[in-house]
Amino acid sequence: MIFGATGDLAKRKLFPSLYRLFDKDKLGDFAVIGVARRSLTNEEFKASVAKSVHSEADVNGKKDEFVSKFYYHSHDVTDSDSYSSLNTLAEELDSRYNLNGNRVFYLAMAPEFFGTIAEHLKTDGLTDTHGFKRLVIEKPFGHDLESAKKLNSQIRTAFTEDEIYRIDHYLGKEMVQNIEVIRFANAIFEPLWNSRFISNIQITSSETLGVEERGRYYEKSGALRDMVQNHMLQMVSLLAMEPPINLTTDEVRSEKVRVFRALRPIKGNEVNDFFVRGQYGKGVITENEVPGYREEDMVDQESNTETFVAGKLLIDNFRWAGVPFYIRTGKRMEVKTTKIVVEFKDIPMDLYNRQEGSVRPNLLVIHIQPEEGITLYLNAKKAGQDMNSTPVKLSYANKGIDGLNTPEAYEKLIYDCLRGDATNFTHWDEVALSWSFVDNISEVWENEKEQNFPNYESGSMGPKASDALLEKDGFFWWPVTNLDVEKC
Ligand code: BG6
Repeated sequence: MIFGATGDLAKRKLFPSLYRLFDKDKLGDFAVIGVARRSLTNEEFKASVAKSVHSEADVNGKKDEFVSKFYYHSHDVTDSDSYSSLNTLAEELDSRYNLNGNRVFYLAMAPEFFGTIAEHLKTDGLTDTHGFKRLVIEKPFGHDLESAKKLNSQIRTAFTEDEIYRIDHYLGKEMVQNIEVIRFANAIFEPLWNSRFISNIQITSSETLGVEERGRYYEKSGALRDMVQNHMLQMVSLLAMEPPINLTTDEVRSEKVRVFRALRPIKGNEVNDFFVRGQYGKGVITENEVPGYREEDMVDQESNTETFVAGKLLIDNFRWAGVPFYIRTGKRMEVKTTKIVVEFKDIPMDLYNRQEGSVRPNLLVIHIQPEEGITLYLNAKKAGQDMNSTPVKLSYANKGIDGLNTPEAYEKLIYDCLRGDATNFTHWDEVALSWSFVDNISEVWENEKEQNFPNYESGSMGPKASDALLEKDGFFWWPVTNLDVEKC
């Protein structure tokens, strides 16, 4: 049952992902009930599903069959009668499609209704099924720790922690999942993966899009809540965690949770030494002039909401003591990309470059998106008479090697949920710890008076203060476009 079935997420991501799974015979017996407020007939709903999978290839001629398994239920989320008729439809489809009482409830809609829906699912009998029951819940999971706790206790009345699948779509990305494989399947990285050999780690997730039509939500959220509390901190935890003893959900999650517990809290007057915020002004993106954030729809003309955040995180454990993890994320930046740069410490002395500058540090770059792969920057002899070194790179591109079209994040996550594998979903402990880290920062920012916004131009890499954050420590952001070490 997809709540919010007429919404953007369902149409853009969920239906196409379900279709791709169906096309690969990964869904088994299933039927989908689209649930939303609007009054639609089954036929109208099926037509909208067909439209959203229109551009998918249909080599196996299965599209019509796929669409035939969709049904629609016009629903009032606060009304018990609505849930009763939904239950009747679910039971009917259960026997028609041999679903063994298994039910997945996917909440892909306005978060203010998450708690209410979960409670009704229980009180109106929908969770009372002889098969499995699972709740998939989209972000935002609360607005701060307190609201997240409230939401969690509401959904826990109807579902156990094991039955709750909190989506962080970054955890479904192929290269985010690859972080642990790169670390734990190679003998050459893990021995160096600590404060003795790594000087700092930089994670950038930049977007060229602005706030689009989401001004109302974004005004209350900002980049800190929208990206840092979830996606950015999740990537930090995967880069920093200890090797789990095996890959079961509990073991992986508990190693990640330990990272969150070791994150040094940033409080009060330290906040602005560790975190920088920005808001985009007008500028040029791929040759088009774009307006500033304060000119966007549903945005206050004097808004102090941040559309950019850069921060320095410290992880107080034996492995990472003293190694800064720098993160930055923002809208309307120069490029759409997510990249991780692991910068290794300098060699003790440079034998080769007396006349030509110094040896560059080794870098391991993990390209999360849009390109997927890794690049390792080394130093090698510069061809010629003299013994000079020059940076060289070893690159691996996911798509380049085997022509693989890697599955979309949602495709992987939906499949995991249907198989009952919650490893790539966030556990409540991760959510709670990441909110308490972020709350310290947002409390300070919200109490500060007016910001000198906008402070970065659309099409740039953020405010100057973001560069200064690293310069204070003797580092700089490695470029994320055409990362060419020789020129840095
Ligand atoms: C979402 C945020 O979680 O992630 C959006 O709410 C953001 O504001 C998006 O644009 C970025 O995701 P991706 O997969 O495009 O990097």
